[in-house]
Amino acid sequence: MLENLTPQPPDKIIMLSAMFREDKRDSKIDLGVGVYKDANGNTPIMRAVKKAEQLLWNEETTKSYTALVGDGAFHKVIADLVLGDSVSYDRLAFAHAPGGTGAIRQILELIKAASPGATVWMSNPTWPNHPAMVKGVGIPMETYTYLDMETRTVDFDGMMENLADVKSGDVVILHGCCHNPTGANLNQMQWCEVADLLNEKGAVPFVDIAYQGFGDGLDEDAFGVRLLAQKCPEMLIAASCSKNFGIYRERCGLVITLSKDVENTALAQGMLSSLNRLNFSFPPDHGARLVTIVLSDTKLRADWEAELEEVRNGMLNLRKILADELRTTTGSDRYDFIAEHRGMFSRLGLSKEQVVQLREEHAIYMIDDSRFNVAGLNEKVVPILAKAIVAVGG
Ligand code: LMR
Repeated sequence: MLENLTPQPPDKIIMLSAMFREDKRDSKIDLGVGVYKDANGNTPIMRAVKKAEQLLWNEETTKSYTALVGDGAFHKVIADLVLGDSVSYDRLAFAHAPGGTGAIRQILELIKAASPGATVWMSNPTWPNHPAMVKGVGIPMETYTYLDMETRTVDFDGMMENLADVKSGDVVILHGCCHNPTGANLNQMQWCEVADLLNEKGAVPFVDIAYQGFGDGLDEDAFGVRLLAQKCPEMLIAASCSKNFGIYRERCGLVITLSKDVENTALAQGMLSSLNRLNFSFPPDHGARLVTIVLSDTKLRADWEAELEEVRNGMLNLRKILADELRTTTGSDRYDFIAEHRGMFSRLGLSKEQVVQLREEHAIYMIDDSRFNVAGLNEKVVPILAKAIVAVGG
């Protein structure tokens, strides 16, 4: 049987991490996978999360199963974090899933069950796992234009022109904030126009929000998703706690569906329970419990928010010093966009060959579309990177 399997294409982000691990050069620099690193190259456990782990260790009395869709207290704290008071709670259904990726997978299966003829639309470019997963679930997909290569801002006219073709019942994936891989994001007016267009077309927004707090702030980064919740009758949300709580390996994500009314909410909740049961029964609990403790305790929450701000401001500062350095080394302003973008990533605009050269000749690792992880930089690395970019002709 197993001989019938065909070799699977490797995921380019995961493959790059493996190549980096195998590189023996001391000077190697990892700007690949989206994992936060501090100035010393470590991915720390956030202070409030560590304290929550101590509390949990003292207080937890059982490891018995939770509910199929996870713990209600976790749903509530994440719904509040993501949606604020934009929508009535009784229109929301939830499923805790293994990471943001797990949440996306459950949503895709829900789409297939609810709307078998639907096409899922995604930005071009997007996180490579979006098309891979949509294909894996067997849903037709289309892309919409996203980045204006000249200005490195959102090509909003191109995006709206493409989205004019969505059909009633289609689903449109939108990055809630900190677009991956481009770092270019919709402004508030543009979010409004997208919401109006989707409503006019009868299409359903599907917001993937994995970097809340990494862009302009916790509330600012939730502007788009909250606006959609206010304006649209239905919405699908995949929220991840991997990055903003730094609990990557705990696999902590949440599906949130917004339904038209309470009856539809019950239907969605039933489907989500069933999907969890069919795919993995119960979600992993540890990360969700830590997040719930942190968000429910005034002091821990304040400390988490303060540390998240340190992380966010650190990345903004690195963006600024890299843009400044590149202005000096290239004698041009063509990399100024790096300081304007938000989140963990921007694309430098280098060719695949130049990215290979950076890796082979300078031990600098980034994704082959020249996406680099801002958090992989530090003040020592910035001039090294800038020099290398110029050396490969960037
Ligand atoms: C990334 O884009 O690097 C992150 O979202 C990590 C991943 O799973 O790909």
